[in-house]
Amino acid sequence: MRRIAIIALLAGLFACQPEQKNPLTEVSSPNDNTKITFYLTEEGKPAYYSSYQNKSVIDSSALGFILGDSMAINEGLTIVSTSTNTFDDTWEQPWGEQRLIRNNYNELTINLQNPEGLKLNVIFRAFDEGIAMRYEFPSQDALKEFKVMDELTEFNMSGDHSAWWIPAYAGNRYEYIYTNSPISEIERVHTPFTLETTNDLYLHLHEAALYDYPSMVIKNQGDNSLKCDLVPYSKTNPVKAYLKAPFSTPWRTVQIGEQPGDLMTNYMILNLNEPNKLGDVSWVEPGKYVGVWWEMFINVGTWHQGPKHAANTENVKKYIDFAAANGFKGVLVEGWNYGWDGNWMGGGTKFEFTKPYPDYDVDALSKYAADRGVYIIGHHETGADIENYEEQLDDAYNFLNKYGMKAVKTGYVENGDTLPKTGIYHHGQYFVNHFQRVIDMGVKYKTMIVAHEPIKATGKRKTYPNMVSREGARGQEYNAMGGNPTSHVTVLPFTRLLAGPMDYTPGVFDLEVATTSEQVQSTIGKELALYTVIYAPMQMANDLPKNYEGHPAFQYIKDVVTDWETTKVLNGKIGAYVTVARQERNGDRWFLGSITNEEGRDLDISFAFLDPNTTYTATIYGDAADTHYQTNPSAYEIKEMEVTSTSNLTLTLAPGGGAAISLVPKK
Ligand code: NOJ
Ligand code: CA
Repeated sequence: MRRIAIIALLAGLFACQPEQKNPLTEVSSPNDNTKITFYLTEEGKPAYYSSYQNKSVIDSSALGFILGDSMAINEGLTIVSTSTNTFDDTWEQPWGEQRLIRNNYNELTINLQNPEGLKLNVIFRAFDEGIAMRYEFPSQDALKEFKVMDELTEFNMSGDHSAWWIPAYAGNRYEYIYTNSPISEIERVHTPFTLETTNDLYLHLHEAALYDYPSMVIKNQGDNSLKCDLVPYSKTNPVKAYLKAPFSTPWRTVQIGEQPGDLMTNYMILNLNEPNKLGDVSWVEPGKYVGVWWEMFINVGTWHQGPKHAANTENVKKYIDFAAANGFKGVLVEGWNYGWDGNWMGGGTKFEFTKPYPDYDVDALSKYAADRGVYIIGHHETGADIENYEEQLDDAYNFLNKYGMKAVKTGYVENGDTLPKTGIYHHGQYFVNHFQRVIDMGVKYKTMIVAHEPIKATGKRKTYPNMVSREGARGQEYNAMGGNPTSHVTVLPFTRLLAGPMDYTPGVFDLEVATTSEQVQSTIGKELALYTVIYAPMQMANDLPKNYEGHPAFQYIKDVVTDWETTKVLNGKIGAYVTVARQERNGDRWFLGSITNEEGRDLDISFAFLDPNTTYTATIYGDAADTHYQTNPSAYEIKEMEVTSTSNLTLTLAPGGGAAISLVPKK
């Protein structure tokens, strides 16, 4: 099925003439940047290809399905009808990295039928900045309940592009360091999957609106041919999805940029999701938080009971006082409930979601927090024992609500890539549906959700704005468990973060971690820059209060916000460096973060994004002349200067370093 007879490739011009039974059916984006062509081969096999400014993005690629019970919709097809549509609307996010977002595309729907009369629709959307495709199984007598055994969608590439990827089915969910290699060196990888193409484009392959369906993994079939590989139901059950018609699959997405930074401000994934279903979401109040957390990673406290049990009333009060004194909205408390005593990972113990440990006075602490204008963020580590969690779900969320916990952090630590005992895949349809039940319960009890070990982000936050953030990559926690290379955070903005916000939990100040043999591969300037570089509506200051108290650079964490009017990417090279500037929502301040990998570098910053009629006080929290992420990570410098929209500045970043700038209009 691969690259069916591409015969004409005119010099510099993408042209493709597949063998076809029906006329080509095409759709172009509003400004003609992208073009998608659908066709049926001589055998009636559905296929498509796509270009950006006449450069190939996707070469001729297969579509279709193998279904259960010996059914398939992949050949002998006829086009019953086609239709087109145009959409242009600007919508407002209740919270986010960009307040107003334009959703503008041209749509093409192809209604297909196979020889047995089974119907399948293919819907394409051509945006100026990318393309999307989804399938729709319309309501039909011959397809009431059915099984998907394979989705045949291909993404055939025009060259052996350079790819950034993490492995799928590797046993540790999404928590891997990204590898950069040619496509030819990959096997099966997760999305977000980012490519720098041999024809000078940047592509991001992912999916949008993942509901009641397995996650899509990308499989290399050889010869630059990539295929959708749906995560099976379980180790022993190869069925990919159990469906009922009518059903629409998630969108398969290819976002396109001319520069890597273009991908970071591409909102196509959000645009492909349905509007907010919750109505008034004034109860969704994300913001900055601190927590009883890092101390467990650095041998100061424990989750389990004993002399170092960290979630005790006195300790939590100290965090609440610290939060209230420094303007944090939330205090995360982990290890507050029964279940941590013993080998809890992978369903080793039964967690109790309404039973606090005896030294944790939930009632008193909730009041103590509320009196100080702070809320406690609950914690539901499940050990991936979903059955145990679901049995308690309603009670668990009722409990959160009763004690004023406006947010909960969930967790699904298991051993391997399947849920304990059942062999059910972490990224399969069952888990995707569980995840939705949790979001719905959050809606019922007005709870914001920050999920760790999650299902990947596919833009659901637009439809369910209480689904505020998630982990889904190697976060800060690994810096207490062997470490992330300092380049890791220069890859994340171009990979994992393209899917949505991440609870990375920046902010280590004691980089040499006094209580362990670990060292965080970062600098103070870089940790501060991450508050702007890594978008998260719930942004943690993860270090111990004592490491912030009295530290001059802590002022930046106190000042920076998490809700933005707009976002600009000033420069960036995947895995090397990136600079992001964001304007606060409902305010005039800007915050800028710039980070580098292990190489020190000078970056020229133009402040042209600022309001032309305003002078700003820029406070620069950066690396000192002798800062080095390995040998002198804690050295920093704070400088102040006046800037306007015509100013330029050369930022000198230390090896493994970074800089954060707050820009405040002068009165
Ligand atoms: C893994 C999570 O990512 C981490 O943040 C949490 O503290 C532990 N699981 C325990 O739940
Ligand atoms: Ca984790």
